[in-house]
Amino acid sequence: MRIVFFDSGVGGLTVLREACRIHPSESYLYYADTLNVPYGVHTKEEVLGFVAGCVDDMMRSYDVRAIVIACNTATSVAVDELRRRYRFPIIGMEPAVKPALQAVRESGRRVLVTATPLTLKEDKFQRLVRSLEAPDAVDTLGLPGLVQFAEEGVFDGPDVRRYLREQLAAFELERYGAIVLGCTHFVFFRDAIRAELPAHVRLMDGNEGTVNQMRRLLGLEARPLEGGRLVPDIAFMSSKGTEEDRRRLEMCFGRL
Ligand code: DGL
Repeated sequence: MRIVFFDSGVGGLTVLREACRIHPSESYLYYADTLNVPYGVHTKEEVLGFVAGCVDDMMRSYDVRAIVIACNTATSVAVDELRRRYRFPIIGMEPAVKPALQAVRESGRRVLVTATPLTLKEDKFQRLVRSLEAPDAVDTLGLPGLVQFAEEGVFDGPDVRRYLREQLAAFELERYGAIVLGCTHFVFFRDAIRAELPAHVRLMDGNEGTVNQMRRLLGLEARPLEGGRLVPDIAFMSSKGTEEDRRRLEMCFGRL
């Protein structure tokens, strides 16, 4: 049986990498919905249909032990419905706004949450921010262009830098203490984003928190490798089902 990491495209590989670091001996399936990526610009109903179709597809080929929805967008629209439909454990993820607010509390600085437009628009995110101690200290920025760059295999370079500069231009970055990477694709751009920010700004993502949640829910024990390198047991699959996709996913995972 395999623990599935699911995303619209390559973004969830960043979460799978974290899982493999802490739990290198588990068996994994990485599934990307390459037929429908990007999710962030679709409606909630469309994304729900895409995700359910993918879960049924993977279940035809593999025994599923649990699914980690390594995608903030899919989690925000589909996690409740998936939990109703399937019996295995389903682990979702959400932008790390709470730890980010805690991290900036003493400095009095603000938090900027970056994510897909759909994640930011969804009730789940709005409710999350409202439930926090200082919702007024949180601003948001949709960066759908980064999803597109990642799917094209472009992770840095002049076009990425220009896009980031244009998008961040509206913000007085000195006033921010943390930027949340609220989309798993954005983690690939950590270095590029870092380079556009004042040194004091922290970059935070939800990957480690998600893997911790997976460990708790599945009762796993953390067994990080002490030196040496184990090749993790990962099967790669996509909704297009092509060998080209499989190779691209494997290669992207290798660069992490
Ligand atoms: N990786 C995604 C996320 O965490 C979704 C990107 C997309 O398909 O728009 O939100």
